[in-house]
Parts: sequence; C-alpha cells; structure tokens
Amino acid sequence: MRPNPAFIALLAGADISAAAEKPYSTWLTDSIISYNVVPQSRWYTEATFYYGVEAVHNHTSSPTYLTYLTSQISPILTPNGSFISWDFADHQLDNIRIGSPLLYLYTQTPSPRYRNAVDFLHDRLLNHQKRTPTGGFWHKDPKYPNQMWLDGLFMAGPFSAAYAALFDPGNKTLWDDVVLQFQLIENHCRNTTKGNNMLKHGYDESFKAVWADPVTGASPLVWIRAQGWYFMALVDVLDWFPSSHPGYVLMTKWFRDLAAAAKRQQDGSGGWWLVMDEEYKGRKGNYIESSGTAMYTYGILKGIRKGFLEEKEYIGVAERAYRLMTERFVARNGTGGGINWEGTVRVGSLDGKGDYEYYIGINKVENDLKGVGPFILASVEWERYLGKRDH
Ligand SMILES: *[C@@H]1O[C@H](CO)[C@@H](O)[C@H](O)[C@H]1NC(C)=O
Ligand SMILES: *[C@@H]1O[C@H](CO)[C@@H](O)[C@H](O)[C@H]1NC(C)=O
Ligand SMILES: *[C@@H]1O[C@H](CO)[C@@H](O)[C@H](O)[C@H]1NC(C)=O
Ligand SMILES: *[C@@H]1O[C@H](CO)[C@@H](O)[C@H](O)[C@H]1NC(C)=O
Ligand SMILES: *[C@@H]1O[C@H](CO)[C@@H](O)[C@H](O)[C@H]1NC(C)=O
Repeated sequence: MRPNPAFIALLAGADISAAAEKPYSTWLTDSIISYNVVPQSRWYTEATFYYGVEAVHNHTSSPTYLTYLTSQISPILTPNGSFISWDFADHQLDNIRIGSPLLYLYTQTPSPRYRNAVDFLHDRLLNHQKRTPTGGFWHKDPKYPNQMWLDGLFMAGPFSAAYAALFDPGNKTLWDDVVLQFQLIENHCRNTTKGNNMLKHGYDESFKAVWADPVTGASPLVWIRAQGWYFMALVDVLDWFPSSHPGYVLMTKWFRDLAAAAKRQQDGSGGWWLVMDEEYKGRKGNYIESSGTAMYTYGILKGIRKGFLEEKEYIGVAERAYRLMTERFVARNGTGGGINWEGTVRVGSLDGKGDYEYYIGINKVENDLKGVGPFILASVEWERYLGKRDH
C-alpha cells in the first residue's frame, strides 16, 4: 500500500511517535489490569473492557491476556456454565453484552461450560426479551417499554451475529432478526434530511415517553456514545454477517453513511462533541467527549481495514482523532509507570427528558471502562495500520 504523504508528514510531527515509545493498546490494558480495579462482573461496562483485551490478545497472541480474561470471566459462572447471579425478572439488553467475551473464550478453549453460558444468553434474548409491535427488542423490561436505544444494538447485535455464525449459520430467521433490529433503529432514529445522517439516542414505538417525537417516536438529541455504540455494532456485526444475505448491503450502507456523518461532524480538535446535533456544537456546557471519540476512531480504522471505507478519505480523520486522544485523554500519571484514561462521561439515559441540560449535567470519570475499552480497540487498529504501512 502506498503511504499517504500528508499522513507521513503528520506522523513526523510531535506526539504520535510516542507510539514508538510503547504501544498504547498494551500500555493502557496493562495499566488497568495492574490497578486491580476491574470487578469480576458480567456487567456490560466490564464486558466492554474485556472486548478491548480480546482485541489485544488477538493481535499480540500473548497468553497473558487470555489468562486474564479467563480469570475475570470464569468466576461469574458455576462449574456447569450457568450464571452465579442472575435476576430472572430483569430483562435488559445490557445483560447480553457479556456474551461476546464468552464466545471469544469458547472459540479459544471450546468447552460445554462456555457453550451452556452462551446458549443461556441466546435463549434469554430470543425467547424472553419483550419486543415492540414491529419486533424490536425493548431496551429494558419493565423499565423502558417499547423503547429501542442505539446502545442496545451494541449490547446484543454482535453477540447474536457471532452466535448465528458459529452455531447456526444456515438459519435465515436468525440473520433476518439481526438486520431487523438495525432496520428499526434506522427507520426511527436516523435523520436522512440533507445528508445529516446522524441518529437520535433512541425511540419509543408507543410514543408514550415524554421525549418521543410525535412522528418518528425518536428522542430529541444525538448523544455521542449511543451513536458510537451503534457505529461499533455495525462494523462488528459485519465480521460475522453473511455477504450473501440481502442485509449485508444494507448494513454496509448504514455503516458508511454514519462514517460520513462522523467525518463531517469532527471538531477541529480531532474529537467529537458530547451532544452532536449541529446547533449544540461549541455551546456552553458541551465538550469533546473521550469514549465516543474513541468509538468513532475505532470504527473508522476498522472500516478502512475491512475495505468499507476509502483509506484516502478517512485516514486523516482517524489520525487527527488518535492524536487528540493521546494528547488530551491519556494522562501519564498512573501508578507504577501506568497511564490513566480521562474524559469519559459516566452515563447517558433516556430515563428523563433526554434534553441538553440532562446530558451535559452528567459527570466524567477517570478510567471509565466504557472509554478505556474503545480506546484500546482503536489503538489495536491504529498499531495494526502502522504495522501494515511500514512493511
Ligand atoms: C483478529 O485478528 C485477525 C487477523 O490478525 C483479524 O482479521 C480479525 O478481525 C481480528 N479479530 C478481532 C475481533 O479483532
Ligand atoms: C447448572 O447447575 C445449577 C446448580 O448449580 C442448576 O440449577 C442448573 O440447572 C445447571 N444448568 C445446566 C445447564 O446444567
Ligand atoms: C432458527 O433458529 C430459531 C431460534 O433458535 C429456531 O427456533 C428455528 O427452529 C431455527 N430454524 C431452523 C430452520 O433451524
Ligand atoms: C435533521 O437534519 C436537518 C439537516 O441537518 C436539520 O436541519 C434538522 O434539524 C434535523 N432534524 C432533527 C429532528 O434533528
Ligand atoms: C491525571 O492527570 C489528569 C489531567 O491530565 C487529571 O485530570 C487526573 O485527575 C490525574 N489523575 C490522577 C490519578 O492523578
């Protein structure tokens, strides 16, 4: 591949050469592991970090990372592979995200124990999660009836696709269902006016939520992380999705359209705003948020690697974002030579009004795993890209 001269010029500049000092993927992973702050939990926050560790293991083949994943995840299961704590009255897509690292462990060391665990999650999703009248999974039952949030597509989408690919690839019903979930989000949350192409945080098919738009059911604003989860979900599902299924073309289009929106919405600093709607850029209280910035960077770099995005159109976007992250969000003040990850907003929900004041009022947390995981994923992609370029 021919290196892009503008890109090489940027690389010759200051901070990104720090990658030569130590790759950020393993540096941050090793730091977080060494702080010993990650609970042995099946919660999606930890699962998002495990996804980053999985990418590091896949990339480095160092057994340390597989040992770590096993030591964290194994204790959440009984010897036969059922979950040690499971609330059968609590149906939420966030509970499904742990399925992805479990499938990874299964592919690394196939065992009936992991198989039982992923079968259980798949059954919970398919047979126990309530659906909207048109077939979309409720984000949380009973709390958010008839609501789909972008976040949920990351929680359950890649797992459903990987499960189908590994255990029942010829089952068209399963693949149709994966696409349907995305299609519903597209129908209700995507703004296609004048190529805007961004997606609101969620929608209520029953139009009962205080925030529901009377026509689409959508919530009022584009929240960086929800759209980031969705962007990752699209590119990750495409790892598994059969190209012979008609949904494949749709999914790649939805992914590309969102990449184009991300490119257009990128701030001059290289990052993206917490509340992304045009009229809120630069408004008092809004800020460049780190988890979402990492998610778009990961999605774009992976999209280039997999051939969904043109390298010459997108590599500059990723490079600017990556540089910003290493300068602004990586803090070299961890204990024992470690680094810390800054600037990740704690949560964002559609529990209240889903308005601007709500989103900007949530605090930021150091080493929040919902930002750490995506930055590790982006770093693996970046280091992979540099490795390829240098050969
Ligand atoms: C694992 O690595 C291979 C090749 O090195 C790559 O094609 C694949 O996408 C990686 N998997 C993930 C989940 O990153
Ligand atoms: C696993 O063991 C638990 C008790 O520890 C039991 O309730 C459950 O039915 C078993 N599950 C499977 C899949 O064998
Ligand atoms: C496809 O999977 C679903 C869900 O597991 C199952 O109910 C159905 O019987 C399967 N269809 C075929 C043709 O195997
Ligand atoms: C949809 O996008 C258009 C063009 O950017 C914009 O003018 C409009 O306000 C957006 N609609 C909503 C509901 O955000
Ligand atoms: C590390 O530095 C950042 C600023 O760069 C600061 O926000 C953060 O609180 C510091 N963390 C620790 C643990 O000292």
